[in-house]
Amino acid sequence: MGSGADMSGNNDPILFSPVGLGPIELRNRVVMAPMTRSQADLTVPTDAMVRYYGARASAGLIITEGTSPSINGLSDSTMPGLFDEAHVEGWNKVTRNVHRNGGRIFVQLMHSGRVSHPTLMPETAKLLAPSAVALDKMLWVDEDDGEVSYPIPQPMNFADIESTIEEFAASSAMAIEAEFDGIEIHAANGYLIDQFLNLASNKRIDNWGGSVENRLRFSLAIVDAICGRIGADRVGIRISPFSTYNGMLPDHEMEQLYIQLASELNDRRLAYLHVILQRNHVDLNLQVRLLAKIRALFSSKIILAGSFDKISAIQELESKNADLIAFGRPFISNPDLIEKLKFDIPLREPDYDEYLNGI
Ligand SMILES: Cc1cc2nc3c(=O)[nH]c(=O)nc-3n(C[C@H](O)[C@H](O)[C@H](O)COP(=O)(O)O)c2cc1C
Repeated sequence: MGSGADMSGNNDPILFSPVGLGPIELRNRVVMAPMTRSQADLTVPTDAMVRYYGARASAGLIITEGTSPSINGLSDSTMPGLFDEAHVEGWNKVTRNVHRNGGRIFVQLMHSGRVSHPTLMPETAKLLAPSAVALDKMLWVDEDDGEVSYPIPQPMNFADIESTIEEFAASSAMAIEAEFDGIEIHAANGYLIDQFLNLASNKRIDNWGGSVENRLRFSLAIVDAICGRIGADRVGIRISPFSTYNGMLPDHEMEQLYIQLASELNDRRLAYLHVILQRNHVDLNLQVRLLAKIRALFSSKIILAGSFDKISAIQELESKNADLIAFGRPFISNPDLIEKLKFDIPLREPDYDEYLNGI
C-alpha cells in the first residue's frame, strides 16, 4: 500500500489503517508496547491504571505492563499480578475503560524468575530460575549492607516447572475473565522464559536445557498450556533475539533457536509474534537477517518494536517486514500519540517522574 493523502488529512493510511488480529479488529497498526509502571497497590491494579490505559485507547492495541501470573513471578509489590480474584476485578476496570473508549487490550504475562529479590517478594514466594546462576548486577546500595546484588535463585525442579506452566495457563483464563482481548507471553528481556532460552542462565543437563530443542521446551509448554485454555488466536508472544538485557548473551545457536521457535509458533497459529529490535546493538545485521527468515516462515501477524518513529514505522510496514509497529516511550507523555503521529504534531519528551507518579 502506498502513502497517498485521503480526505481526512490522514496522509499515511498504512500506519492508521485497520488490521485483523485473531478474531478482533484493530483500528490502526500502532501498538502501545508493554511498559512497567509500578502503579499497582500490593499487586492489585489501581484507578490510576484505569485512567492511564483508558487515556491511550486510541492505539490499535495496548499491551499492558508486565503482569505476574504467579506469586513467584513478582519483582515488586507495585508490579501487578493476575493470579487471584482481586486482580481479575482490578484489571476488569481497566479493560472496561479501554473498551468503552473503543480500544483493544492484551495483558502481558511476565514471570521475573531470577530478576527479583526476596525482600521485593511476598514472604511465601520462591525466587525461581532454570539454574542456580545469579544475575550479575547490583540491585541497590543499602546503608548497612552496602551493595546488594541479585541473589542466587533456586533451580526449578520438575514440580516447580509443572506448577509454573499451570500458573501461566490459569492466569490466561483469568485474563479472559477480566475481559482482556488476549494475552502476550513475555519471552523477552531476560525474564523467566528467556532465562530458559538462553545459555547464560540455563545450565541444565536434563530435558529443559542444553540443546535448542530442550531450551525451547519450557516456552512451548507454556504456549501450549495457554492455547489449550483460551485458544491460540488470543495469544501473542514477545521475543528479544540478541538482547543482552538482564544478563542474556548471544550464542552460536541463537539464530537456529529463534528460527525453530518461530516455526513451532507458526504451527500453533498464534495471533502474533512480537519482536524487539536492538537498534544500537553491534549485531543489528544479524537481527535483520533473522527477522527476514522469521517473516518468511511465520504466517500470522508480526509486531516490531524498538525506537520507532512515524517514518521508520511506515517504512517497515510498507516493506512488509511487519504488520504492526509498537511504540513504547513515545506513549509515556503522549496519550494522544495516534493523533500526534497522524497530524505531525511534535511529541513531548517522556517525563519519567510524571510516569512513575501516576499522572
Ligand atoms: C519504562 C519502561 C518499562 C518497560 N517495561 C516493559 C515490560 O514490562 N515488558 C516488556 O516486554 N518491555 C518493557 N519495556 C520495553 C518496551 O516495551 C519497548 O520494547 C522499548 O521501550 C523499546 O521501544 P521504544 O523505543 O518505542 O520505547 C519497557 C520500557 C520502558 C521504557
